[in-house]
Amino acid sequence: MTRIILTSLLLSFCCYTVLVYLYCDTNKIPPGDIARNGWAVWQKNNCQSCHQVYGLGGYMGPDLTNIAAVRDRKHLYTFIKYGTGRMPNLQLPDEDVNAVIEWLSWVNKTGETKVAASAVRWTGTYSINKQQ
Ligand code: HEC
Repeated sequence: MTRIILTSLLLSFCCYTVLVYLYCDTNKIPPGDIARNGWAVWQKNNCQSCHQVYGLGGYMGPDLTNIAAVRDRKHLYTFIKYGTGRMPNLQLPDEDVNAVIEWLSWVNKTGETKVAASAVRWTGTYSINKQQ
């Protein structure tokens, strides 16, 4: 009996893994794209400790998944370059600031901060409905 339960659990796990893999959206940053450098800047400066993307990360600053859709480039540049009273000035060179803005624009195209329950598929993935 135990063997049957364990085998069916294992089979369910394998089937689910295959389904998630097949249905997942594969939006990868193309090699050579400046957004890749931006991702490195994001990681190196630990922006994730204060900000969320795709709903994951710290809560000191706002979620930045769709920030590129609601703020213009100048606004993003000013915040990232100089900080504010609450956001630190990370002393980033212009090259890094521009790269991280490109990365935030890419993130905006690939996800939503808030996903409507109706858009979630039975596999747990959801439709992006955005053109890159
Ligand atoms: C110590 C925590 C902290 C870190 C680290 C941090 N931020 Fe922030 N960030 C904040 C806070 C807090 C705010 C809100 C500031 C305000 O409104 O005065 C903010 C605001 C922003 C905004 C403007 C958001 C808006 O609504 O207009 C952007 C863009 C941003 N951060 C990007 C970044 C990037 C990119 C990095 C990494 C290079 C980073 N932040 C690192 C705390 C942080």
